[in-house]
Formats: sequence, C-alpha cells, structure tokens
Amino acid sequence: MLKGKHIVLGISGGIAAYKSAHLLRLLVKRGAEVQVVITPAGKEFITPVTLSALSGKPVVSEFFTANSGEWHSHVDLGLWADLMVIAPATASTIGKMVSGVADNMLVTTYLSAKEHVMVAPAMDLDMWAHPSTRRNIETLRADGVEIIEPASGELASHLVGKGRMEEPEKIVERVESFFRRSASLEGRKVVITAGPTYERIDPVRFIGNFSSGKMGFAIAEECAARGADVALVAGPVSLSAASPRIRRIDVESAVEMHDVALRECSDADVAIFAAAVADYRPACVAESKLKREGAEEMTVELVRNPDIAADCGRRKRPGQVFVGFALETDSGLDQAVSKLERKNLDMVVLNSLKDKGAGFRTDTNRVTLVTRDGEAAFPLKSKRDVAADIIDAVERMAGYGQP
Ligand code: PMT
Repeated sequence: MLKGKHIVLGISGGIAAYKSAHLLRLLVKRGAEVQVVITPAGKEFITPVTLSALSGKPVVSEFFTANSGEWHSHVDLGLWADLMVIAPATASTIGKMVSGVADNMLVTTYLSAKEHVMVAPAMDLDMWAHPSTRRNIETLRADGVEIIEPASGELASHLVGKGRMEEPEKIVERVESFFRRSASLEGRKVVITAGPTYERIDPVRFIGNFSSGKMGFAIAEECAARGADVALVAGPVSLSAASPRIRRIDVESAVEMHDVALRECSDADVAIFAAAVADYRPACVAESKLKREGAEEMTVELVRNPDIAADCGRRKRPGQVFVGFALETDSGLDQAVSKLERKNLDMVVLNSLKDKGAGFRTDTNRVTLVTRDGEAAFPLKSKRDVAADIIDAVERMAGYGQP
C-alpha cells in the first residue's frame, strides 16, 4: 500500500518523539520513502542518528549546513511529499502552523506542502483542553489538515487524561486509509456547483444570497484529493481552489451556471449541486443605474430561473450519481425527500439554518444525508470533514473501489 509513497515525517519536541522512531520504522517497512524533518526541540528528545539510520536518509533540521553554508530547500520537500505527518505535534508547533511562524524547517515545510497533512498532537491534558489549543485545532481542521486525536492515558506529567499521541500502529492505519482514499476517484469526473448567483437589476445592483462557496469548494478539494478531475462551477465568491485537479469555471447568474452545469454534467460520473441558486431574476436588466429621486416605491418584476439540479437530473444516465443540497429553516426532512424525487437525485444533503454553525458562510456544517434507503445524521463538523462524509457516501452508492 505504501510502496513508493513519499512521506515527510515531522517531529517536534515532546516526550512522544520516542514513539516516532517506531512510527518511522513501520512506514519504511510498508515500503514508504520517509524524510524526517525535526525541530530543534525535537532533537532534545530523539537523536537524528537514530532517525537517519531508520529512514536511510539524512535528517533535515536546519535551514543551512553550518560549515558549508549549503541551503536546504523546504520548498523542494513540500513538493516531494505525497503526505506530511507531524507526530508528535506539540502545542507550540501547532500554534506556529496556525499563525505561519516559519522559524524552523518543520513549519516552513508545512507551509510549502502541496499535499495532505496529518497532525498527531501530544501534550498535557490541560494544554489540550485549553481554549487556545481548541481554537488552533479547529483552524487547522478548517485549513484542511487531518487531526489524529490524541488518546487518553497516563501522560509525561503522570497525570491521566487526554493528550497522549496516538499509537504508531493507529497512525499507520490512518496513513494507509489516506492513500486508499486518495485514489478512490481516480479517472472519475466530478462536477460541483458552488457559491451564490447574482441576478442583475441594473449595472450596480443585483439579487443574491449569503453563500460564500465554502461548502462547494470543500467538496471540490476533497474530490481532487481523492484523484478526481473536478469541474467547479463557481458563482461570485472570493475563494481560491488550491488543487491543480480542479478546473474552475466562473459564472455570475443562474442562467450562466445552468448552461455550464448542463454541458459539464453530460460526461460526469458524479455531480454535486451545492450552489445557492437564485430562484428568480429580474425580468429585464436596466441598462443604466435606476434612479431613486422622486420614487417612493420601486417594483422589480421577477421571472423564474431554471432549476439546474432538476434539469441535470432529468438528463441523468444510468451509472451517474447526482447529489443535491436542501437548505431549510427548520428540520426539513420532508422537503429533502421531496427534492430527491422532484429533481431525480440520488442523495440530498440536508442542512438547516436553525442549527448553530451550519449553513451559509460558516467553516462548519451539520448535515443529514438523505437517500431512498433512509437518512444518516452527522454532528457539526468542519466543511472539509462534511465533504469527506458526503464523498464516502457517494462512493458507497456508486460502488467505487468495490471488487
Ligand atoms: O456557500 P456556503 O456559505 O458554504 O454555504 C453552503 C450552503 C448553505 C449554500 C450549502 O450548504 C447549501 O445548502 N446549498 C444549497 C442551497 C439551496 O439553494 O438550497 P435549495 O434547497 O434552495 O435548493 C435545493 C437544490 O437545488 C440545491 O442543490 C440547489 O443547488 C439546487 N438548485 C436550486 C435552485 C435552482 N434554481 N437551481 C438549483 O440547482
């Protein structure tokens, strides 16, 4: 499973660094090529000699080799890695990662890493529970970093609680599962609609909504991370897509989004309609700015926009899997089921504005996945983790990766 995979193992300064030697050995035994990057504090807990003997490569720690002045490029390492695992990650290293304090090779490598990053924190129970750590962990999650939660047990302080770095065998399981997932959509085309649509009233005004595009972009990144070719049809948002596997097509209005989505869906394996599309648009767009002088009231006549998900659903071929969203202001299960049928979808992701932290603009969401076989409710999670749950369900439904 790990043969030929390039893994950067980042080690920071905590007692759990002794377990990193075992983790390194397990990764190498499974065929991975591992490059260790250690912080200055990490070297106080485990020697580079041990790590370089186990990895078969010189350990990277300093920006320069002191006597020759040779510069070590963190950018090269970031590009080389298929995966970066930071284990143990101390509270200090996590804080530096969150705020981009690039004063050691581990953090500079993290900041230039192009692929997935996993973090296995290790610290005392009170440090783990501190609001500052909680905030930092949530920020890393929102940045797409996978957190391998620490286990409970006896800590270096002899206190008992949550904060022990997860066991190396468990971390290896997560690494293997990542590589399994990273190929699960290889050769598949996924179309995603994201963000709001703007319906012009005149050259300066539009009808729109509060969608930021975060949910749709998180799904796009998740699909790209699993090897899919992604067509991301994006309304006006200020986000950027990181993965080179994402082909972004910017649109403004529902009619434009409709035309692009219809075209892209014709040869797609999966389509996910996460955009908040305006249901109506002004019947005509004024050529110059509408003047308010002398007008106490103004009426804008609206006409119905095409239903993108429903029109794509109508053309759905056997084997294609189409997923819609339902944004409700109450529990909304009935509406989700009705959208599933009306739009000929295979799954509807129900999210409700009545749930704190769910829906528009947040970094988190709380969803229920509704299919013809029933529904599955998930707790509040980062939008990236919600995206992973959605794609797991799509893959099961489509039978991808099944023998
Ligand atoms: O972008 P964020 O700030 O991250 O917020 C995420 C979100 C709240 C926008 C997202 O999670 C979400 O719920 N998207 C769908 C919003 C919506 O328009 O829901 P709806 O119940 O009105 O529409 C049902 C489905 O039909 C959706 O898949 C929608 O994309 C689609 N639709 C609706 C109208 C239309 N004219 N064309 C469509 O394709």
